[in-house]
Amino acid sequence: MLADSYGRVATDLRVSLTDRCNLRCTYCMPAEGLDWLPKPELLSAAELARLIRVGVTRLGIREIRFTGGEPLLRRELPEIIAAASELEPRPHTALTTNGIGLRRIAPELARAGLDRVNVSLDTLDAETFHQLARRRRLDDVLDGLAGAADAGLTPVKVNTVLMRDINDHEAPDLLHYCLERGYELRFIEQMPLDAQHGWRRDTMITADEILERLSAHVELTPADAEERGSAPAESFFVDGGPQRVGIIGSVTRPFCGACDRVRLTADGQIRNCLFAREESDLRGPLRDGADDAELAERWRAAVATKMPGHGINDPSFLQPARPMSAIGG
Ligand code: GTP
Ligand code: 5AD
Ligand code: SF4
Repeated sequence: MLADSYGRVATDLRVSLTDRCNLRCTYCMPAEGLDWLPKPELLSAAELARLIRVGVTRLGIREIRFTGGEPLLRRELPEIIAAASELEPRPHTALTTNGIGLRRIAPELARAGLDRVNVSLDTLDAETFHQLARRRRLDDVLDGLAGAADAGLTPVKVNTVLMRDINDHEAPDLLHYCLERGYELRFIEQMPLDAQHGWRRDTMITADEILERLSAHVELTPADAEERGSAPAESFFVDGGPQRVGIIGSVTRPFCGACDRVRLTADGQIRNCLFAREESDLRGPLRDGADDAELAERWRAAVATKMPGHGINDPSFLQPARPMSAIGG
């Protein structure tokens, strides 16, 4: 079991497969990209499979989410998913992606055992997409979304980060687009995790603002709070349901008290929190021949020291040195 000193137990492993990405979203990366991890520092597919096996068979991991950077850039993704899906007890598997190339590979991912996907989509306007992601790929993303639904990777969820005077006016359009296609949309408060450290509280669109804006267009009824569990998203029925919209209010409505997450970075570090100050190396011991018991013990120790919360609202808050793309979104 992966327990911390606040009584929380991590059962949800978020695995970053690469720090690279084929978009350059302004809230994440500079236009020129970042200093990517050198290939030898990345965990290989076999190393990833080994650590995932240790997590599932020895440490109580029940859910695995593959992230990045952009996880579809890892060519071995189907084999990594297959290795995870073959474990006993079989973990739930999910993927968080920007959707580029998803149409083509979705059937193969489904066959490998992937259960579902979350796709980032911040705008439906091609020019705004270009301004925000610095690439002209909106049509690929929309096609990827539809391809995921066609391949049965459902429920398909959509993640939208709203930014003041950039895409915030699109909230109702995005909601209708998703409702019409059966995707579950979640609006996300922007967090201070960008590489350029440009986050500002006053440009963040808060959960309260999102709810107020949506309420001018649809009727929102909060879903049962108990059913939320450890999910970041607060869920609301739209116009009486059954369809829903979610709000991920990481900053103004933190959910750290119920957190059940632990992260494995692409270079083999355990991060017990998105905002952790320290990481614990598993790649070194793994490559030096540590057995499963030793890896599990190091992993347990890494989770035991997890902080109670992200501290974004504390005056002494310091943004983590590594950006979200390197930590794993
Ligand atoms: P579901 O199981 O589908 O609900 O996934 P998820 O929402 O946990 O995963 P996803 O990768 O789609 O993340 C969506 C957003 O949730 C991210 O953009 C983050 O803003 C936020 N998020 C994910 N994990 C964490 C976390 O551990 N802490 C905080 N504060 N926010 C997180
Ligand atoms: N704050 C909140 N969400 C972010 N994402 C990327 N950077 C941030 C940030 N600074 C989102 C992406 C994607 C998910 C993995 O994380 O939009 O949907
Ligand atoms: Fe968990 Fe840290 Fe995310 Fe809070 S910020 S939900 S403690 S990982």
